[in-house]
Amino acid sequence: MQLLDGKALSQKIKLQIKEDVAKRAASGGIIPHLCAILVGNDPASETYVRNKILSCEEIGYKSTMFRYDTSITEEELLAKIEEINNDESIHGLLVQLPLPKHIDVSKVVEKVDYRKDVDGFHPMNIGRMAKNMPCALPATPYGILKILEEYKIETKGKNCVVVGRSQIVGSPISILMSRPGYPGNATVTVCHSHTKDLASFTREADIIIAAVGVPELIKENMVKEGAVIIDVGMNRIEDATRKSGFRLVGDVAFDEVKDKCSFITPVPGGVGPMTIACLLLNTLQAAS
Ligand code: GUN
Repeated sequence: MQLLDGKALSQKIKLQIKEDVAKRAASGGIIPHLCAILVGNDPASETYVRNKILSCEEIGYKSTMFRYDTSITEEELLAKIEEINNDESIHGLLVQLPLPKHIDVSKVVEKVDYRKDVDGFHPMNIGRMAKNMPCALPATPYGILKILEEYKIETKGKNCVVVGRSQIVGSPISILMSRPGYPGNATVTVCHSHTKDLASFTREADIIIAAVGVPELIKENMVKEGAVIIDVGMNRIEDATRKSGFRLVGDVAFDEVKDKCSFITPVPGGVGPMTIACLLLNTLQAAS
């Protein structure tokens, strides 16, 4: 088994971007500026947004973060997005999800100017992605493609089983894996909570992409010998031996599966860091 080291690849990408930004700065060019909106105090969202802002600082982007209490109304949030849409000094805007229940996520996603939508969540970007047109790809699926490319993993004609159909990962990666080109041209099956006998699908998979948010759902007896496993899960489970009180596990039972598969992404250090690197790539693209 070979580890798919998303951490190392993300550092390589960040270094390339940092050099690009330094050149821009030296020649008086535009410095990308990313803006993040965080509503509420969900600990995982706080960590994600903090890491995004820190990564911007690391590579020389400008960044701005707006934090709001859960009491913010939908109207107030939409008005803030409008203001940022009209601010020419900001190139990329992300609104961290999930949002409180009283706010309509679709309205928020559609309010972001699609040209600043560095998450690739806007229907315009999703449509362009499906039609294989230039667009901002959703950052996590984009990161998965980059990992497959880096390790030259063949996808053409392979059986790819995606477990999970979320708007953020499962649905877009299923489109991307079946698009013409590389990585793509796979035969894709999407499994979800209504799938009968999940194991009968995953056992046939050459590539499993697990993005369902259930800790260690994919067990050894659900995986074919030599399969490639992309684990998108980031599940916090209680662990009194850790200072934080929790540890991160994926959607795949890593220790059980690692000797059976050919490649696997670790959690942490696999897909997670690639999400941020690809968000930064999308921001660079938006600023260009
Ligand atoms: N919540 C979980 N993943 C993401 C992401 O990639 N972008 C945003 N905005 N929110 C998220």
